Amino acid sequence: MNDPRWAVITGASSGIGAEMARIYAARGRSLVLTARRADRLATLKAEIEARSPALRVETIVLDLEQPDGAEALVAELDRRGVETETLVNNAGFGLRGRFATLPYDDQVAMLQLNIVTLTKLCRLALPGLIARRRGGILNVASTASFQAVPFMGTYAATKAYVLSLSEALHEESRRHGNADPNCSRSVPATSEIATRPTMVLPGSNMTGSATYSSSRAAARLSGSRSLKTRSRLDLRRRS
Ligand SMILES: NC(=O)c1ccc[n+]([C@@H]2O[C@H](COP(=O)([O-])OP(=O)(O)OC[C@H]3O[C@@H](n4cnc5c(N)ncnc54)[C@H](OP(=O)(O)O)[C@@H]3O)[C@@H](O)[C@H]2O)c1
Repeated sequence: MNDPRWAVITGASSGIGAEMARIYAARGRSLVLTARRADRLATLKAEIEARSPALRVETIVLDLEQPDGAEALVAELDRRGVETETLVNNAGFGLRGRFATLPYDDQVAMLQLNIVTLTKLCRLALPGLIARRRGGILNVASTASFQAVPFMGTYAATKAYVLSLSEALHEESRRHGNADPNCSRSVPATSEIATRPTMVLPGSNMTGSATYSSSRAAARLSGSRSLKTRSRLDLRRRS
């Protein structure tokens, strides 16, 4: 396929990330699936290729908790000739426990993945998106972004960061795309995806509803014309 429209999805080996991959594929997007578990990525790649043989599906096995994880991912994308149109920053995890007794190194690893790698990937991807005036970034936050969560304090703080950064990038990037006034008026619901499309906000008791919510977010950034609202961070071609 010439000039595939690539969606790069971190944390694609399970859960929300794997579901997003299926959604993007259903909308004709070629995929880069990345996570640590190679076997799960391979299974998902085979599933998607069987259903959509025209799409390209690449897998990249990487540990994004490593300080150079983001750079390693971008270097591998460059090596494979992938020009990212949509970046889905989904990889993340949440530690439970009392702050004072949770191993500090585990908390730092969570900060690295949920915050530092996500930030670096945004920083590495955004200039290209702006230059091309197309594409977008979808950062997966949480309902925990909105309040402190005792016994998940550090995790909730990482997701508050994701929300705050995404809002800021959204505003900074708006002039580079065609802002959709409908989106700018919408308000995030508590256990649903925000209709502000730069974040996914799954609830802590995630079930099918969060998957549905993710579907709506992914649909926006995957370019479905059937949807009435479009991403504000979606840097579309000028038409
Ligand atoms: N589930 C919920 O209720 C909920 C609620 C709010 C927010 N969220 C957010 O939603 C996102 C996805 O969560 P999920 O529920 O789908 O969880 P999940 O099924 O555990 O998926 C997490 C994904 O992140 C990947 N990952 C974890 N550590 C990684 C690392 N060091 N390097 C690379 N990839 C890594 C995992 O792959 P490997 O293990 O193969 O590396 C997996 O693909 C997370 O950001 C999470 O904070 C989830």
